[in-house]
Amino acid sequence: GSAALWGGRFAGGPADALAELSRSTHFDWRLARHDIRGSQAHARVLHGAGLLTAEELAGMLDALARLDADVVSGAFTPDPGDEDVHTALERGLIERAGSTLGGKLRAGRSRNDQIATLVRMYLREHARVVGGLVLDVVDALLDQAAAHPGAPMPGRTHLQHAQPVLLAHHLLAHAWPLMRDVERWRDWDRRAALSPYGSGALAGSSLGLDPAAVAADLGFDGPVENSIDGTASRDVVAEFAFVAAMTAVDLSRLSEEVILWATKEFGFVRLADAYSTGSSIMPQKKNPDVAELARGKAGRLVGDLTGLLTTLKGLPLAYNRDLQEDKEPVFDQVDTLTVLLPAVAGMVATLEFDTARMASLAPQGFSLATDVAEWLVRQGVPFRVAHEVAGACVRACEDRGIELWDLTDDDLAGLSEHLTPEVRDVLSVEGSLASRSATGGTAPVRVAEQLGLARERAATL
Ligand code: ARG
Repeated sequence: GSAALWGGRFAGGPADALAELSRSTHFDWRLARHDIRGSQAHARVLHGAGLLTAEELAGMLDALARLDADVVSGAFTPDPGDEDVHTALERGLIERAGSTLGGKLRAGRSRNDQIATLVRMYLREHARVVGGLVLDVVDALLDQAAAHPGAPMPGRTHLQHAQPVLLAHHLLAHAWPLMRDVERWRDWDRRAALSPYGSGALAGSSLGLDPAAVAADLGFDGPVENSIDGTASRDVVAEFAFVAAMTAVDLSRLSEEVILWATKEFGFVRLADAYSTGSSIMPQKKNPDVAELARGKAGRLVGDLTGLLTTLKGLPLAYNRDLQEDKEPVFDQVDTLTVLLPAVAGMVATLEFDTARMASLAPQGFSLATDVAEWLVRQGVPFRVAHEVAGACVRACEDRGIELWDLTDDDLAGLSEHLTPEVRDVLSVEGSLASRSATGGTAPVRVAEQLGLARERAATL
């Protein structure tokens, strides 16, 4: 017969087309073991409320344990007739415990509070797993920073040469956002740590069941405060999806730079063979596919977030079947990040930087012009004037096709009475870097400190 959980008031079963549309086991089956843990906790509160005898509880827990083992081994799987993970597992329970005992478990709970709880359990686990994989990327960045303590590179704004920076400083600038992403999941977990179990369909349970006991049993900090909120809201799922999308966007920005750096024109990095691919026609090609896939998949994760928010927009309270659409986007995010992050970590760990080329490019494009202006300020010249004078130096050099340090003493004096030969002290990458010594700056001593701070922060995550 039909295993549907709602046959009583219906004269016949659902049309094939409805069953086909309605079925969710192909994606919610991954929650099967969470559902069984929820059922075990629920059985215990049914016993606590006097609705299962000790003997019935023992029989129920035994049947659930056997069902769990069969789920793990693959001996029990959903049938085409099972609408969702809950329906399939109730069938499995009844097959093992008999319909009299097995049929008692559903009292006082609804698939609405069940599914809301299971999604939180699943996402809390995976936020920790995926967060750990993000930290592997962070570690790879920190190790690369540590391996290149003094290497300068052209710092850019608008993708134009701006001021020299340390490569380590730049790599750390990718590590901090990724650490914040992991922190976001840690912080999110406080909101995700409340259990909707016991909310019932929407109004709570009349059977004297204890939501706090179920919550504690399932590793939550407590039950939700409001049964309608518990079954109808998905902001906690959407917030997970935002952090996942943000993480992917942060990986994408890093990847975009790797793609640029690996071009002939930049020539900043060589990708390890193990993390690059060839072309089927062009024998010379070595392509940054890991970085490109990271950039591409970021679009997919943003789409997952957007799709979920769009599903939620306009839903009245409380549960609506639309909410079944909450799971595939976040499952896709988890699956995508789980394969993407180890590849990105490996790519970053094996980047080989051409530090000589980066150093030689660091002072080009007049990237020391700010140093000239700031040197003038230290001589007492108002910045407005100093900016003009340094700009005039750049223009003179550009006209003559030379660099700032090629200007003679006479050239300098001709450009401004304030430009004495001592200005040359700051016309070096080393001098420029060392002068940016305020907290957070690119001076080698500050970057070394920053690396220590980053390691400390990563260790707390
Ligand atoms: N499968 C549904 C979901 O994922 C839960 C079942 C709720 N169905 C219902 N008719 N109330 O949201």
